[in-house]
Amino acid sequence: MKLTQVIYVSELIDRDSAVLASILESAVRHNQQNNITGMLLYAEGHFIQVLEGDEPAVLETYQRIWDDPRHHYITLLHADPVPKRCFGGWSMGFKHLGPQEAAAFPQYAPYFAFGVDARALVAAPGVALEMLKLFCGGEI
Ligand SMILES: Cc1cc2nc3c(=O)[nH]c(=O)nc-3n(C[C@H](O)[C@H](O)[C@H](O)COP(=O)(O)O)c2cc1C
Repeated sequence: MKLTQVIYVSELIDRDSAVLASILESAVRHNQQNNITGMLLYAEGHFIQVLEGDEPAVLETYQRIWDDPRHHYITLLHADPVPKRCFGGWSMGFKHLGPQEAAAFPQYAPYFAFGVDARALVAAPGVALEMLKLFCGGEI
C-alpha cells in the first residue's frame, strides 16, 4: 500500500479551547482506527496539520476534515507519496504555539503574519513539515 503524506493549513472559526479539545479527541480516536499518524500545530487560531498513512485512508480523512464546519480557509500545501512516516509515534501529536514561544523562532516569523500565512507556506515547500517536526512535542 502506498504511504502518503498530506499537509494543509486552516483557520479555526470559534477559538474555544473546548472546540479544540473535541477536535483533538476525534482526531486521535479516528486515526488510531485508520492507522493514520501526524501532528497538529495550532497558533493564533490557525492550524498546520500533517496526516500520513495508506493513501486511501489519508484521502478519506482529509475529505472528512475538509468538510468539517469548525474551520475554514483550508489550503492544501502538499499531498505526496513518502518512503516512510515522520510522525510514526503519534496518532495526532499536538502543539499549541503561543506568541512568545513563536518569537523564539524568528526564522518562522514570516509564516506567522496575522496567524499562519498560508500563501507564504505555499511558496516555501518544506517549511511547514520542518515546523511540524520541530514542534512535535506531545499530545494534550
Ligand atoms: C483542524 C482539524 C483537524 C482534524 N484532524 C482530524 C484527524 O487527524 N483525523 C480525523 O479523523 N479527524 C480529524 N478532524 C475531525 C474531522 O473533521 C471530523 O469532525 C471527525 O472525523 C468526525 O468524527 P466524529 O463525529 O466521530 O468525531 C479534524 C478536524 C479539524 C477541524
